[in-house]
Amino acid sequence: MQLPKPGTVEIAPSILSADFAKLGDEIAEVEAAGVNMVHLDVMDGHFVPNLTIGPAIIGKIRPHSKLFFDSHLMISEPGKYIEAFADAGVDNITFHIEVVDEPEKMVERIRDLGCCVGITLNPETPVSAIEKVAPLCDMVLVMTIHPGFGGQKLMPEIARKIIEIRRIVGPDIRIEVDGGIDPKTTPIVVSYGADTLVAGTAVFGRPDRAAAIEALREAAR
Ligand code: DX5
Ligand code: ZN
Repeated sequence: MQLPKPGTVEIAPSILSADFAKLGDEIAEVEAAGVNMVHLDVMDGHFVPNLTIGPAIIGKIRPHSKLFFDSHLMISEPGKYIEAFADAGVDNITFHIEVVDEPEKMVERIRDLGCCVGITLNPETPVSAIEKVAPLCDMVLVMTIHPGFGGQKLMPEIARKIIEIRRIVGPDIRIEVDGGIDPKTTPIVVSYGADTLVAGTAVFGRPDRAAAIEALREAAR
């Protein structure tokens, strides 16, 4: 599946804040609310101090959803696992620049698996680190928190990286932002040039997910 074409603002609910005991229903609920993608946070307890899901669980939820599966690999050795994630049915694989020595090669390997590619950078990593590889990707993910946990506050000075990245990649590559996105921070990141908004707490942390998604859409307008 291809990423939604640039030109729209997409909300990507992060299942990190969903009820894992009923993941299928949780994803169905945001699908019914009209989102096109869902964000899957993969953590290995090494690159980040937390553990989440892997290919086994993603493979089990895949048949229950038509959404674009946007995987965010917060793992130290993404190169070892990309085949497993592609086999599990993810549509996009985003890897961290901090742990990959030859990012251009990794982009090629992910494309050969039939997946879209995202590159991401931690708050302390300068934009210059992704300058060469970003134009080869479908999406750049800007971390506006230290990865590992949901429910943190967006770091406003870090969000400004979006402006510089938009200058580098032009209008045709999606810029996704992850961490502390809510109806208050949305207008800021959209004005900087982000068009893909990851939201965990602001969607799955709210009882009415359709209303939560609509609030983010409204804030983006
Ligand atoms: C954290 C993850 C995020 C997380 C965001 O490392 O990458 O995707 O779910 O959570 P919120 O939206 O609550 O900041
Ligand atoms: Zn994420």
